[in-house]
Amino acid sequence: MQETIREILKEARAALEGVKSAADLEALRVHFQGKKGRLTALLRGMGELAAEERPAMGALINSARETISEMIELRGIALRKAERVLRLEAEAVDVTEPRPVPSVGALHPLSMVLNDLVDIFVGLGYEVVEGPEVELDTYNFELLNLPKNHPARDAQDTFYIEDNIVLRTHTSPVQARTMLARKPPIRIICPGRVFRADEADATHSPNFHQIEGLLVDRNITMADLKGTLDAFARGLYGEGITTRFRPSFFPFTEPSAEVDLTCMACRGAGCRICKGTGWIEVLGCGMVNPKVLDLCGIDSSEYTGFAFGIGLERIAMMKYGINDMRFFYEGDLRFLTQFR
Ligand code: PHE
Repeated sequence: MQETIREILKEARAALEGVKSAADLEALRVHFQGKKGRLTALLRGMGELAAEERPAMGALINSARETISEMIELRGIALRKAERVLRLEAEAVDVTEPRPVPSVGALHPLSMVLNDLVDIFVGLGYEVVEGPEVELDTYNFELLNLPKNHPARDAQDTFYIEDNIVLRTHTSPVQARTMLARKPPIRIICPGRVFRADEADATHSPNFHQIEGLLVDRNITMADLKGTLDAFARGLYGEGITTRFRPSFFPFTEPSAEVDLTCMACRGAGCRICKGTGWIEVLGCGMVNPKVLDLCGIDSSEYTGFAFGIGLERIAMMKYGINDMRFFYEGDLRFLTQFR
């Protein structure tokens, strides 16, 4: 019988070596220790032994049982450890592995140009102010020295919502609003969407974008306006770009000018884009009309100022070589993804 026990132990040790899973281990435990297990069979067989042999034999069998229990337990621990290692390996993430590049959106070219302009003017100490797109006639016209029936109103093909309410035809009403609300010094830019009843074509759109600038303080002169716009031109297209002022008329500025920038495509040499002139028209400006200052509650005997209105589309078209304004508004991905 002792011989059998030794054999059983040997067999158990060998079998345990080969165990690969928790299920195998459980099967082995049943095989050795279960009701029909080999040790159990030995215990049953004790009845055939002489009475004085029984205690010693019983002790031997029990100790073998304990040994096997311990071996199974240890093997179980080892198995769980190995499984854990395998699982961690399988779950490991390779952080260096390249992933597919997701397709991301991009800023609209008008937004990019607007950001550039805002950066330039914020760098010069201007503050960004916004105003409503649906505007009172008062702010869009009256306070800007465009009384009812003024002929210059016709130049701006206005969308009327009601008699006194319009879609703003320019961003200039924001300067009227700001002057009424603040005391000088005032230094603001007002970017935004504006509306005019124009037929859409390559160079016109019923809605487009402007960025209005206004500076009001003591002793402001046309030289300040010229210096500011030159700095803007250089900031936008780099050294060597300047401005050219041509006399013009706006009811809200006096004197007024249309301003051209050196053509950035040919740097002034003359090309197809600037029609051989070397200049591109991009904005209107002037010294704020004293009447407008007074209408907006600023004493024109004490303060002077300048204002300008820049068309965003024109600048974006120049910068990116876009030849049709409608591309900006159609949302065609073939156009938009070129600006990623
Ligand atoms: N508001 C003018 C326009 O839309 C532009 C402008 C702004 C001119 C400020 C002078 C001063 O045509």
